Amino acid sequence: MATESAVTENGTGAGAAETLTITDNRTGQTYEVPIEDGTIRATELRKIKASEDDFGIMTYDPAYMNTASCRSAITYIDGDRGILEYRGYPIEQLAEKSTYLEVAYLLIHGELPDQRQLEEWTHQVTMHTFVHENVKEFMQGFRYDAHPMGMLLASVGALSTFYPEAAQIKDTDNRYLQVIRLIAKMPTLAAFSYRHNQGKPYVYPDNDLSYAGNFLSMIYKMTELKYQPDPRLEHALDVLFILHADHEQNCSTSAVRSVGSSQVDPYSAVAAGVAALYGPLHGGANEAVLRMLRRIGSTENIPDFIAGVKSGNERLMGFGHRVYKNFDPRAKIIKQAVEEVFEVTGKNPLLHIATELEKIALEDEYFVKRKLYPNVDFYSGLIYEALGMPVEMFPVLFAIGRTAGWIAQWLEMIDDSEQKIARPRQIYTGARTVDYVPVSARG
Ligand code: SDX
Repeated sequence: MATESAVTENGTGAGAAETLTITDNRTGQTYEVPIEDGTIRATELRKIKASEDDFGIMTYDPAYMNTASCRSAITYIDGDRGILEYRGYPIEQLAEKSTYLEVAYLLIHGELPDQRQLEEWTHQVTMHTFVHENVKEFMQGFRYDAHPMGMLLASVGALSTFYPEAAQIKDTDNRYLQVIRLIAKMPTLAAFSYRHNQGKPYVYPDNDLSYAGNFLSMIYKMTELKYQPDPRLEHALDVLFILHADHEQNCSTSAVRSVGSSQVDPYSAVAAGVAALYGPLHGGANEAVLRMLRRIGSTENIPDFIAGVKSGNERLMGFGHRVYKNFDPRAKIIKQAVEEVFEVTGKNPLLHIATELEKIALEDEYFVKRKLYPNVDFYSGLIYEALGMPVEMFPVLFAIGRTAGWIAQWLEMIDDSEQKIARPRQIYTGARTVDYVPVSARG
């Protein structure tokens, strides 16, 4: 590390060099490492060697707590100030004034569409909502009670076999068609997995409806000729899709980028994102929040639950974030959308437990010290439940919204000349050059 003096001398004075001066005390050698955008290139450290045949210094960063993996112009987050912007537009303005399809266009193309572009984009997506009948038959092969996220994971990956031309990722026209197909078909696959889980016939897309309205129709339509979504629920769901659309280099997006760096087709790369999002620490958290609230059961049980968290026997799901250390701006917006939905569906008794839990946690030193605040998943599950969704569907709804972000990040990675196949290094801790012992001689 640079010594204090080096930092102080060159710190903030006029003409301060944008470099680190590193002294290797093993050799007395000093190295100048350039600072670019608040980072140093890890490969610069390979110059620092203790001997000629030394590989050189690597960085060690489990879970990438302090590592930038790419340059990106898609989403900006300021975790301390609770700022989230898609292509520079504040999430509060997009949630209030835009629609999910328009936000998907913004993330993928980099700019808001004009009227003609929006109409063409909406038409393209609407015309691609159907899936091949074989996909439906493939999905019907799952167990009757298969988790819908597992079905979504498999069926998104299976689309790569229905569109083998998607492997031509350098063909921009072909790539754009796959982008349209993914945005268009994700709700269809999600709804099919829900209907399968409910033992109900699959409902085909209704291209007269909006993106969120069509999803509600594929979820809820029964014997009526045409499903008419409640506009308040349609709007609340569209806002949720907007809020989940992207979140810079989160776990699932990193998975999409890493798998995509092998130049596999976008369906396989997005399937990797679905798999990562399935985990309870990531997209599965909204499902875990509802199960947690149900387990708490009443506000009288909150003190015991909080004690369980402090003793390490429980985790307050829906709280905490790797980046947001004050508040998750999405949680604030979702809390407002909760009221809109409950006007239609009636108040959910779990909301009272959630708000009481939030109030207690925000005042408790254990959570304050660890900067644990409600994240996007804390309230979203209440809306999904109010919409009649089973908890297993919550991460699936998250995946529908995040598909636009995964695609935008995948496209940016493909076109980034600095990117190549992702292949981290390791610190080897195992045995070396052990001689083989035949099984007859093993103890
Ligand atoms: C999402 O990355 C993204 O952007 C994700 C996301 C997106 O849009 O893509 O925002 C979506 O995944 C939101 C997060 C949903 N997950 C949850 O709500 C699950 C509960 N939260 C956590 O498990 C946790 O807060 C994480 C995973 C979100 C963040 O974990 P970190 O940054 O690795 O923090 P940590 O686990 O190292 O925790 C730091 C301390 C630890 O305590 P000590 O060991 O220091 O004593 O805080 C504690 C943790 O035990 N802690 C919690 C806690 N979260 C962290 N303790 C109780 N309850 C929690 N929820």
